[in-house]
Amino acid sequence: MTTVSVSLAGRSYDILIGPGLIDRVGDLSAGLLPSRRVIVVTDETVAPLYGARVYEAFKKAGIAATLAILPAGESSKAFESFGELMNALLDQRPDRKTTLVALGGGVVGDLTGFAAATLLRGVDFIQIPTTLLAQVDSSVGGKTGINTRHGKNLIGAFYQPKLVLADTDVLDTLPKRELLAGYAEVAKYGLIDDPDFWTWCETNGAAVLSGDAAKRTYAIEQSCRAKARIVVADERETTDLRALLNLGHTFGHALEAETGFGPDLLHGEAVGAGMAMAFDLSAALGLCPAPDAVRVRKHLAAIGLPVRLRSIGGDNYRSWDAGKLIEHMRGDKKAEAGKLTFILARGIGKAFVSRDVKEADLHRLLDQAIAA
Ligand SMILES: NC(=O)c1ccc[n+]([C@@H]2O[C@H](COP(=O)([O-])OP(=O)(O)OC[C@H]3O[C@@H](n4cnc5c(N)ncnc54)[C@H](O)[C@@H]3O)[C@@H](O)[C@H]2O)c1
Ligand SMILES: [Zn+2]
Repeated sequence: MTTVSVSLAGRSYDILIGPGLIDRVGDLSAGLLPSRRVIVVTDETVAPLYGARVYEAFKKAGIAATLAILPAGESSKAFESFGELMNALLDQRPDRKTTLVALGGGVVGDLTGFAAATLLRGVDFIQIPTTLLAQVDSSVGGKTGINTRHGKNLIGAFYQPKLVLADTDVLDTLPKRELLAGYAEVAKYGLIDDPDFWTWCETNGAAVLSGDAAKRTYAIEQSCRAKARIVVADERETTDLRALLNLGHTFGHALEAETGFGPDLLHGEAVGAGMAMAFDLSAALGLCPAPDAVRVRKHLAAIGLPVRLRSIGGDNYRSWDAGKLIEHMRGDKKAEAGKLTFILARGIGKAFVSRDVKEADLHRLLDQAIAA
């Protein structure tokens, strides 16, 4: 088991990474719980796979656990579903010392974290992320939230968990496509500020995906360390530092918006394509050596991510339009006063924030990406 510590004044916590951890959650968390009572929030896919094991692990440690099960998928982050979850939690008569446990992917984690931030004005929570994306990204850093008809994650709170348990074994049941989507966020950390990790990914990415336990642990550890480093320095995204985590996301969100945030394009897939485009744009603007941009696109494609716009959407192939993509970028909540923010790079591991990309350059890059 590997430990990554997130040091935030008064709110520090550990991320434990390794195989078989869910069967030890009772023992590993017992010392942190304000009372011997937890409510495990999970979804209909994860509950039959791991619900009973988590329940037993708490029981073995003398901790009373009950379950709250949500439908799987992004729709559970809807405002209405949040209301239903809160009432279901209150039906169980929790008190301020009850701890919520998020067992699932980023959807369960974001929703449960926000529930914990607001239930009885705040109870503790523990993250047991079960997707690669949740293990390397959404479970770390304390962003919690839900969706409204105005967009994703527009209501939420910065609320840190007391513990994160990333069990590498649970990734074995994750659909390959979900695993790959999470891998895009892993590779992202190399591209932001760790060229050695990117080179490691080029060599070992395939083994991470095919199930090599030691390499999985290493990839998750490096990712959590990178994210923790950035979160500790800029917890609430008040400087440009935390914004670097959005590498690939301005492009990615536009692609997701165009494909309806649905099954045609998963978030991590959009980020993969978006990172390739961010490096292409950096190279086109003369900021980044062209061979670096080629390397990025090559590795992401080789690992199986859909980096060409043409390959996205399958049978539902839609004709992309640069103008429409730019409109989506302007609608993103991260666009400040209509100004587009991009994470560009001076090379692999040298990402920086740019707010002065000219629309004509962006348009040209998008046209090229659509035609490629
Ligand atoms: N808070 C943050 O900082 C942050 C960062 C990135 C993304 N997010 C959020 O995360 C969400 C996406 O998370 P996600 O990609 O984990 O999606 P998800 O939670 O929808 O999980 C994907 C699918 O995999 C299933 N699943 C989960 N674990 C499984 C397992 N071990 N075996 C088999 N199936 C399993 C789920 O039931 C679901 O159907 C989005 O809502 C996004 O906004 C938040
Ligand atoms: Zn992301």
